[in-house]
Amino acid sequence: MRYRKLGSSDLEVSEISLGSWLTYSGGVEADRTRACTEAAFDAGITFFDTANVYGRGAAESAWGEILSAHPRDSYVLATKVWGQMSDDPADRGLAPAQIARQIDASLTRLRTDHVDLYQAHRFDPDVPIEDTVEALQKVVQQGKARYLGFSEWTPEQIGAAIAIAGPELFVSSQPQYSMLWQAPEAEVFGLCADNGIGQVVWSPLAQGVLTGKYRPGEPVPEDSRFASESMGVARDIVYHDDALEAVQRLVPVAEGAGLTLPTLALAWVLRRGEVASAITGASRPEQVHANAAASGVRLTDDVLAAVDEALGDVPVTGPTLASLARAGVRHR
Ligand SMILES: NC(=O)c1ccc[n+]([C@@H]2O[C@H](COP(=O)([O-])OP(=O)(O)OC[C@H]3O[C@@H](n4cnc5c(N)ncnc54)[C@H](OP(=O)(O)O)[C@@H]3O)[C@@H](O)[C@H]2O)c1
Repeated sequence: MRYRKLGSSDLEVSEISLGSWLTYSGGVEADRTRACTEAAFDAGITFFDTANVYGRGAAESAWGEILSAHPRDSYVLATKVWGQMSDDPADRGLAPAQIARQIDASLTRLRTDHVDLYQAHRFDPDVPIEDTVEALQKVVQQGKARYLGFSEWTPEQIGAAIAIAGPELFVSSQPQYSMLWQAPEAEVFGLCADNGIGQVVWSPLAQGVLTGKYRPGEPVPEDSRFASESMGVARDIVYHDDALEAVQRLVPVAEGAGLTLPTLALAWVLRRGEVASAITGASRPEQVHANAAASGVRLTDDVLAAVDEALGDVPVTGPTLASLARAGVRHR
């Protein structure tokens, strides 16, 4: 496993990291959650990404139990705040009182006194940005988080926060980024690089679509994410005929390069220096090891050109947030 520096911070993150969104929030049983997480340590993965809203605390609790058996300085821990945490519609967002309550609840569940990275899961237009920035800074001043980041903020929202608190406010951005979803390259990579903000990207395998397991015109495999009611909630973002056909065109490209499809897809994401880590999901430990093998794989210009040709005009390249809204992405 290779490691990269996260933005202007002194955090070193593994190029491949592990996330717990639909998997360890309840979709994957406890034994497998433990096996996947331990496989990550075995493979040299040191960066773990979760959120308060994943299973409304369940994902953080699962990892609190498992990660607390490892020395705290042996891994970089990231969580997030914003999503709705109870049936009360007001129990969400980035108001100062909510941030103060949620960081304490996250730390309790994660069984630690600090996270390395605290991320605003989305922007909250109902709270003055000055208040949100001050509340996030307070979390750092209190030693409850070492660094701050955001996920899926627009360039305008990022710029407004930086105008208030300077570029040192944030060290990371968490956009969706994969061969099938390339919008952040144009939308936020440059702005972030100019301000010492690294990218830690989500769904780099397009939730499994880029592994080639879903074939056009065939039923979804029984043991896959999109066969599961609880884990298939965001299927429409990446699962459509054009995408499945493009992935089949990538098969000979991967074979020609002597790579598996997941390795090709993850190495493609990591070809960009702005990307500090690809946050993968895994439902079984073998996937963790298979994905970790992508670290250090370099793609030649010929392979990159063949990838572009195979993808054709499939990738989403429009503004990220608008695309997400169109796709109806949910965060429960
Ligand atoms: N900031 C945000 O708004 C946001 C949103 C979404 C996700 N995230 C973060 O990003 C993380 C990763 O998202 P993701 O789970 O969608 O990532 P992903 O890596 O694109 O997809 C993971 C899924 O693909 C399948 N898979 C993974 N490796 C495989 C392999 N080698 N061979 C075959 N199938 C494989 C598994 O599903 P099956 O085996 O079940 O088919 C696995 O659960 C999340 O856990 C979370 O931390 C953040």
